Parts: sequence; structure tokens; C-alpha cells
Amino acid sequence: MKKMKIAIDGPAGAGKSTVAKQVAQALSFLYIDTGAMYRALTYAAIKHHVSPDDEASLKSLLDSIEIKLVDEQAKTRVYVNNTDVTDQVRTDEVTKSVSLVSSHGQVRKEMVRQQRLLAEDTNCVLDGRDIGTYVLPNAELKFFLTATVEERARRRYEENIQKGFKQSLEQLIKDIARRDEFDSNRSFAPLRKAEDAIEIDTTSLSISEVTQTIIGYVKERV
Ligand code: DC
Repeated sequence: MKKMKIAIDGPAGAGKSTVAKQVAQALSFLYIDTGAMYRALTYAAIKHHVSPDDEASLKSLLDSIEIKLVDEQAKTRVYVNNTDVTDQVRTDEVTKSVSLVSSHGQVRKEMVRQQRLLAEDTNCVLDGRDIGTYVLPNAELKFFLTATVEERARRRYEENIQKGFKQSLEQLIKDIARRDEFDSNRSFAPLRKAEDAIEIDTTSLSISEVTQTIIGYVKERV
């Protein structure tokens, strides 16, 4: 039977990764967190003192490391050369540079090649910015999650508090808006809703309502 691929795109903080993970778990599909791959490269670049705007050196670095995603029950573990960097890829330092690192064409082409390989011949859910438009244009189901920037910042704020660090809500709104702007305006495969994607405004929905909505569409399809 033909494998089903589900693309979930949208801006930072729209709830994509939590929803994608839950959908994948409910359907026993593989979950591929493509943002974590760009974060892993950004982490390696900081460690090796490679500038986030040096495209050629970033590409060489990417060619010299192995990024691995291991799907676990509660979360995806991220490895660079077999070292677990799951927590390190979520730091503020990585978050601040990842948009620039991921804007380079050479970096994206290689990442997309790896993402397509991971998704080959598997039932899977991928979340990112360009999955429906570029990585898997033939995905059976595409979703584009949105929410107001204030709501997305508020969610990050709560997450941060749970992790034990505090950043002002105003600063988070600015950071998220800047990242959206950058991700949407880069020249190579920018953040964009695919024409055939189903848009879900998550501003006033809970995570489980979004998950259930997506699963509802999947069930309709099979
Ligand atoms: O989803 P996230 O916040 O972990 O993504 C981190 C960054 O990676 C985001 O600012 C844009 C980039 N990204 C991308 O350009 N394409 C993807 N498919 C996934 C993420």
C-alpha cells in the first residue's frame, strides 16, 4: 500500500511540533522534526565557531557531521555525531541564529535531501516551514498552522517558565516576529502556505483539538 505523508508547516510557536508528534504517535507514523535538524547544524556551527552567514563553511560543516533524530515516546532526541544534543538545540543562542543558518540555499538543499531520504517509503509526519511547498510537494495531506504572534509568544513564555527561565513577553513577541519575517522572506523555499494545504488557526484551540482535527482529516482520507 502507498505510504502516507503528512506535512505540517507554519510559523514559530504555532504548535506544529507538539501536534505533529501527537498525530504521529496516534497513527504509529514516523515523526520527523525538520526544525531540529537546522537547530543541530546551528549548534554545531556555534561549537566550531562557524559564522551563521558563512554559507560555504556551514555546508562543509554539514557534510562533515551526522545529524540523527531518534523518535522516543515523549520527544525526539537529537544527536550530532552520536552525542545527544536534544536540550542544547533549544537554547536561546541556537534559536537566535537558526533562521540565518537555515536561510542558505546550499544548506537547505542538503537538509532537504536528507529529509526526503528519511521520509522515503514510510508513513510519516514532517513539520517545518517548507514541507508542503518544497520538501514533499506530493504529500497526501498538508496543514498550515497559524496563530496570532501574541498567542504564539504567550505559549513560548509558558514553556520557558516551565523550563525555569524567564524572558519578557514583549521580548518574545519581538523575537518571534523577527524570526517569522526572516523565515518568510528568505529567497530559497520561504515559509509559505502550500496552495493545497488546509489552514488551521490555532489561536483559540487546545493542542489536542488541533491534533484531533488533523486526525479527522486523515481518517477521512483512508
Ligand atoms: O520549528 P523550529 O523553531 O524548531 O525551527 C527552527 C528554525 O529552522 C526556523 O526558524 C526556521 C528553520 N526551519 C526551516 O527553515 N525549514 C524547516 N523545514 C524547518 C525549520
